[in-house]
Amino acid sequence: MSLRTRLYAKLMIAGKAGASRAFERLPPVGDQHAVKTAPMAEIWGLRATDLVVATGLPSWDAHPFRENAGVSVVKGLQRLLPNDERWTRWGSRAAADHELAEVLGAVGRGQTFTPWPDYATDAAFARALVQGPMAPLLEHRGDEFVVDCRILAGLERHPGTVPLGVVVVLAFRADATGARTPQLVRIELEDGTVRTPADGEAWQIAKLIAAAGMQTWLVVGPHLVYTHFLNAGALATAAVSELPNDHAVRRLLTPHIAGTLRVNDRAGKTLLGPHGNVQAVYSFPWPSVQQLIARAIAQYDPTRFDLPMDLERRGLTDLCASGDYPYGADALLIWNALHVYVREYLCVYYPTDADLSADSHIQRFVATFCRSSPGLRADSLTDLARALTARIFAVTVHHKLVGGISLEFLTHPYFLPHRVGPGERVDDVVPFREQTEANLAAKFGTTYRSWGLTADWPSVALDENGRAVMQAFQDELRAISEHIDARNSRRAVPFPHLRPTELESSVAV
Ligand SMILES: [Fe+2]
Repeated sequence: MSLRTRLYAKLMIAGKAGASRAFERLPPVGDQHAVKTAPMAEIWGLRATDLVVATGLPSWDAHPFRENAGVSVVKGLQRLLPNDERWTRWGSRAAADHELAEVLGAVGRGQTFTPWPDYATDAAFARALVQGPMAPLLEHRGDEFVVDCRILAGLERHPGTVPLGVVVVLAFRADATGARTPQLVRIELEDGTVRTPADGEAWQIAKLIAAAGMQTWLVVGPHLVYTHFLNAGALATAAVSELPNDHAVRRLLTPHIAGTLRVNDRAGKTLLGPHGNVQAVYSFPWPSVQQLIARAIAQYDPTRFDLPMDLERRGLTDLCASGDYPYGADALLIWNALHVYVREYLCVYYPTDADLSADSHIQRFVATFCRSSPGLRADSLTDLARALTARIFAVTVHHKLVGGISLEFLTHPYFLPHRVGPGERVDDVVPFREQTEANLAAKFGTTYRSWGLTADWPSVALDENGRAVMQAFQDELRAISEHIDARNSRRAVPFPHLRPTELESSVAV
């Protein structure tokens, strides 16, 4: 690893150690503050959307991480790593393993750059689509399960990269022990070429291309645009702008908007824009990233964070019930608890729908949200409870998969690489050392923890009645952690990521 990557890792580790102590203190509820916004068209240069994005921060919206150092180091690093530099090859998977382990030693906090010892196998690749970061992208089509990244098709790319508009197809089949496991069937490349496991090294390369496609779409679409901006940012902007400090819904949302405006402000500066990490690290220059963001917004379905509706839409309800989809099964446990919690909490303060309609703060909250993101309604308590459950689910559970586990899953050049070059040998197409380092640096800067979902949030309640409902939710989350532990003891490969005690309460960086 280069000196600058070592330095960066050390800085980030020091920052994280300090931050984890600071996250022990809960953030302030804060006062009502009209958050400044500007059209996305202006901020990101997008046409064909009239949505707005936050551009201002209330002074009390602090975040334990000292963002100035992080922003300048990340930007400096990316300027040092232009895309036309002469790069160095890893040479072999063993060399990458060795050097990443060295950084791992420097990290010393139990993090790894491959989640599973069998990471080089087809089985591990397929598993990443079912219980790894791509799990929220899986869909059932006919007899097959797919992850479809054709939204990336046709975009201009950096030199030395390959097209990423791929479709990955898998099926669930019984293995030698009779257990059903996900197995890769084929990969359809953007130019129409179809690769199967019978294709030798060309198959190995197709997997790497598919991984780069899935990672690129995941980071730009489901993570940044959908979870951070259309969901978390819209929620924080509307709650802070329209709900006073002593409003019951402001207190309900406090844990789930904590630090969000600041996190998104930083994400906008470090990740997006003509000098941001996304254009520097991934295959697409900024004009293509702009096109991709516009495509993502055009395809956004606000029900994607309503888990039962989302599972139905993706045809995964049966798979979920079968136990073969750990992400869905564990996420549903939390969804159900969250939905009960939000409904019961709202019932405390709004005995009837008429009480809700009469609350002008809530009506303005919904209107302000809809200027940043489509699809929030408060016509009835039932509507509002379901919609807020989805918004909270997005920043806690969904964010964990699409963002929170990216350092572990999306950094190893021979497992799920972030970009791929042309060539006919695996060692020639995986990201260069310097590109891997740039990706590592970007991931170090974007995988911060935030406040825990099981922190002492009942202490922000407005009154005893609200506190009782919040405490009951906390008790339920602890029971769910035990339930998930029990499930994991039976699973061939555990899925620890959605244990509520491991989840964040609001989006991390
Ligand atoms: Fe994030």
